[in-house]
Parts: sequence; structure tokens; C-alpha cells
Amino acid sequence: MFYFWGLFLEYLGIGKFNKRVIMKKIKCIGILTSGGDASGMNAAIRAVTRSAICNGYTVKGIYRGYEGLIRNEIKELTTQDVSSIIQRGGTILKTARSKDFMTPEGRKVAYDNMVAAGIDALVVIGGNGSLSGAQIFANEFDVPCIGLPGTIDNDLYGTDVSFGFQSAVDIAANTIDCIHSTAASHSRVFIVELMGHKTGWLTLYAGMAGGADILLIPEIPYDLEVVAEAIRKRTKAGKHFTIIAAAEGAISKEEAALSKSELKAKRKKENYPSAAYRIGAEILQKTGLEVRVTVPGHVQRGGQPCAYDRVLATRLGAKTAELILQKKYGYMTCVKENKIDIIPISEVAGKTKLVDTDSDIIRQAKFAGLSFGDEPCGI
Ligand code: F6P
Repeated sequence: MFYFWGLFLEYLGIGKFNKRVIMKKIKCIGILTSGGDASGMNAAIRAVTRSAICNGYTVKGIYRGYEGLIRNEIKELTTQDVSSIIQRGGTILKTARSKDFMTPEGRKVAYDNMVAAGIDALVVIGGNGSLSGAQIFANEFDVPCIGLPGTIDNDLYGTDVSFGFQSAVDIAANTIDCIHSTAASHSRVFIVELMGHKTGWLTLYAGMAGGADILLIPEIPYDLEVVAEAIRKRTKAGKHFTIIAAAEGAISKEEAALSKSELKAKRKKENYPSAAYRIGAEILQKTGLEVRVTVPGHVQRGGQPCAYDRVLATRLGAKTAELILQKKYGYMTCVKENKIDIIPISEVAGKTKLVDTDSDIIRQAKFAGLSFGDEPCGI
């Protein structure tokens, strides 16, 4: 009985069921990019705008994400505005991490501006925070939303891959390639710190592609003695350098056992600029070897999108336009087993896709002799 009542409410678009077919006429679509920029965002903006305009919709670009919605930075987009942008990195709509949008008052201003601009539905391109923002906004004001997964972190739940990730992997792997030649000329340990506070996707893929010897990711807390032993083993085998790819959020086994507040206090006391410097100091103390740290930082988010991300973002953008035509809202377009698919935003919001420590890729990496610093490796 309650189930059928729920389905009825869902059909009407009422209550907690906010994925639905919209009955009211939607003529104008607002589009924004939010959070960290990611390669492919422009390709997605282009695909959504072109398809929507071709099908009789007006498209309005909201600049600087949710922050721009609050500050009323809204301008109509034409097909000319999205011409020749597919090859450009970043986002022509700019982006921001909005503190004000996290407050009910801020969201009310955003909603009023959206209504005043004549925007009937919202397309949100971004990562975890952006999609969670869309879910809250949709629930609070009954705003029809569609999400697209764009983040270099690849940590969005509900999609196998997000655009921006592959381009960042290419850049990060290139960085490790560059380190290789200088590393081979010295007897040193090199640590390359890659983006990813909560997840190790970028470190895993770029580290593997770049031929790093040790990968340190948040999902697999490291044992410093195991890391030191892996380095010593290489030295004994006549390899005079070691390259470590470490995620921003790499954490030791001891640290993983601490409470959140204890960890915060430890980090504050140690006062290292970032993870790689902390790990570097630990390795120096354990092995006495010279250590060098490289932090490519935002270089990883820069440059031109790779062809894969342009194609992926275009396909997801076209799927978004298809949903608009079908009047289906409350979904994020996604990739499932190599196919473009959709998933309710309510199932995505607030979740993080971690690297599965039992996955094939981790097993294969370990089998190929890579160390994750958790257990002794064969090579
Ligand atoms: O969310 C993407 C991301 O690039 C993270 O990997 C990184 O930790 C963070 O953004 C950096 O954020 P900001 O650009 O605000 O410094």
C-alpha cells in the first residue's frame, strides 16, 4: 500500500522521490560547472548546449558554479559561444567552491535568481560536492536537475569513470616519466605527490602507467618498514633509485588507527607542507637515503583534454540532452560497463567511490611487483 503511494508521489514528483518525469513545460535550461575544473567540461557544455538549442530550448550559462547563481552571473549561451571549445581545458563557464551555497539562505537567493532568469531546469557538471549540492537544491525547491560526472579524482559514486580523469592520468604519468631520467642518474628516492585526498585512483593509474615502484594510496594504509624494505630490496638488486607515487591522502597504518581529531593534531604538530614531505622525512630517517619530492599540483588539472575525455564528455552531454527531451530529471548520466547510462542523483549524492582493494587492478599491480607499502612484494 505504502509502496504504491510512494510510486504515485514519485510520479507526481513529490516527497523524497525526486527522480521523475516533469509535467510542466521546460523551455530554458541553466548549465553550470562546479568544484574543481576537469578536462572535458567544455566538451560537455558544448554537447548539451548544441543539442538543447537544436531542439528548441534556450540555454543559459551560469558562471562560477553555484556561487555565480547566488551572485546572478547568468548569460544566454548560443551555439557560437560553444564553438571551438572542445579542445580547451578548464571550463568556459568558470567554476568555484561556494560556501554560501552550503547555507539555506544562499540556496534561496540562488533559487530566486534562477527563477528570475527564467531557468526551468538545471544541468550540473562536477564531482561529489557538486552533485550533492544539486540533490539538496532539487529537494528544497523542487528544481529539475540533471548531473554530469566531471572530476579528475574519478571518485564519483555510480559511474565507472568521470571525464577529466584520463587527461589527469596522462599528465601525472608524464610527470613520473620525466622524473625517471633524473632518478636513474642519481641514487635517490623520488616521491611524486598526486591529487586525491580521499581516493587513490589517479595515483594508481598514473603510478602504474609511469612505472613507479611504490604506490601509496589512502585506501591502503602503508607500513613504513615495508616501504623501507621495498627500497632496500631494489638497492640490493642494483637499482639505485626508487620512484614512489603517493596520493595527497596517503596515510600510514598507525595514522589510520587514530581518531579524526588525533590525526588532525598529529598533522598540525608535524607541520609538513603535504603528504610527500612527511613520507620523505620518514623514509630519510628509516633508510638514510637522499629523498626528493615533486608536487605537480594543479598541473594535473591543466592542459588540453585528451581525446578520450572529449568523446566521453560529448557522449554524456548528448545523453543529458536526450533526458531533457524525454523530460526525465533527477538523474546523473554515467558510464556502466562501457555503456552510457543514467543513475538517480539521490543514489550518488554523499557517497565516495573508493579504490576496491580486492579489485583485479590491485591484484595485477601487486603481481607485477608494485608495492603498496602494505605487505612485502616479490621484486
Ligand atoms: O576535486 C579535484 C581536486 O583536484 C582534488 O584532487 C584536489 O585535492 C583538489 O581538487 C584541489 O582543490 P583546489 O583546486 O580547490 O585547490
